[in-house]
Amino acid sequence: MNTRVLTGITTTGTPHLGNYAGAIRPAIQASTQPGVDAFFFLADYHALIKCDDPARVARSRLELAATWLAAGLDPERVTFYRQSDIPEIPELCWLLTCVTPKGLMNRAHAYKASVDQNEAKGVEPDDGVTMGLFSYPVLMAADIVMFNAHKVPVGRDQIQHLEMARDIAQRFNHLYGSDFFVLPEVVIEEEVATLPGLDGRKMSKSYNNTIPLFEGGAAALRAAVMRIVTDSRQPGEPKDAEGSHLYVLYRAFSTPAETAAFRQQLEAGMAWGEAKEVLFQKLDGILAPMRERYVELMANPARIEDILQAGASKARELAIPAMRVLREAVGLRNVAAPAAGKVAKAKAAKGARFVSFRDPDGSFRFRLLAADGEELLVSRPYADPKEAGAVVKRLPAQAQVLAQGQSYVAQLDGDDVAAGPGGLTPAQAAMLAEKTAAMLDELAQG
Ligand code: TRP
Repeated sequence: MNTRVLTGITTTGTPHLGNYAGAIRPAIQASTQPGVDAFFFLADYHALIKCDDPARVARSRLELAATWLAAGLDPERVTFYRQSDIPEIPELCWLLTCVTPKGLMNRAHAYKASVDQNEAKGVEPDDGVTMGLFSYPVLMAADIVMFNAHKVPVGRDQIQHLEMARDIAQRFNHLYGSDFFVLPEVVIEEEVATLPGLDGRKMSKSYNNTIPLFEGGAAALRAAVMRIVTDSRQPGEPKDAEGSHLYVLYRAFSTPAETAAFRQQLEAGMAWGEAKEVLFQKLDGILAPMRERYVELMANPARIEDILQAGASKARELAIPAMRVLREAVGLRNVAAPAAGKVAKAKAAKGARFVSFRDPDGSFRFRLLAADGEELLVSRPYADPKEAGAVVKRLPAQAQVLAQGQSYVAQLDGDDVAAGPGGLTPAQAAMLAEKTAAMLDELAQG
């Protein structure tokens, strides 16, 4: 089974060079590894917690989507979507909210920092604290466990949120008596560059020391590089490469051999002005082709929207069946259906039916649908419709339904003839396999 790697990008602001080196580049790199299913999404519900300026939220969603695509994210390979296009996420968020102890949220660093600031100012502890800020970690947990992510690469400031996600998922599993959710693991990339900004402190919008990624084109990039603070050593004087953040920036975008050569030149007395020119050329060489794609995408928002809609459909193929199982688990069920655990004696099977259809390539298949239209099985393709028909006749009385990996299969004589939806946890697969077997049973008797 592939490892699911998932991460969210809050849509406030415009990405800078530090975001590229620290988050975008390593994430895209990770998404190309074999055995990895990557889920990257724009956390635009999270953006509303920090920002009540609609124009800024809207702009940032567009810019971030364009940035990630321009930087090489392949939407065929990565499930790339907007959080707000997946209504199952806030739905799950509520189920999780109902099992999350308030005391756990009281301990969240972001919330505690607000309280501390308020106390220092001598105002009410919760002054200016919204419920969005307070329950931010629950929404983040929903983002993650909705897709049963195994690994979540994030910055250090998010480690506590991941611990909370595990805690919440575990409580839900425990309370409802099954492994509904995979417990996610945090991934902190140790080698990932934390870039220094113009003044040598960490590059960050809040320090106003950033180098733009695409905004303003090559001219803005050059202007920012020229503003990098250096010491007062004159041309010809040897420079302390390791001690200079200009060198650290260069290193983050160069091979070890290039870096060694640059270091030697600095130590041999290269002027800072010249060193800045070398750094600018290096950065522009890497960024210019991406910038070109970025400009093209920004001029064509309809294309971005299409890509995001396709990503949302892909994500919802997993989220919809997962949510169905979870609603059932907490008791939000069809009142005419039997309680969990008694599925085998289900009357709910009444109305289950086979529906056959034809693939675009001309082959024949069928689906087993529950009374409410839930898809329980899809068959393999058959060249001959009679053969497909014969399988449909035999399935109710003779099928074996078995949970298998992230799904389940129906077998005849030991051969897989149909399968359930993918992306299930073992518990979900077992539950749906049982339900499917019960439906087939009922059809055999009816
Ligand atoms: N809170 C994260 C941040 O600010 C963004 C985020 C939202 C996220 N949901 C997520 C990251 C789920 C990883 C997984 O960086």
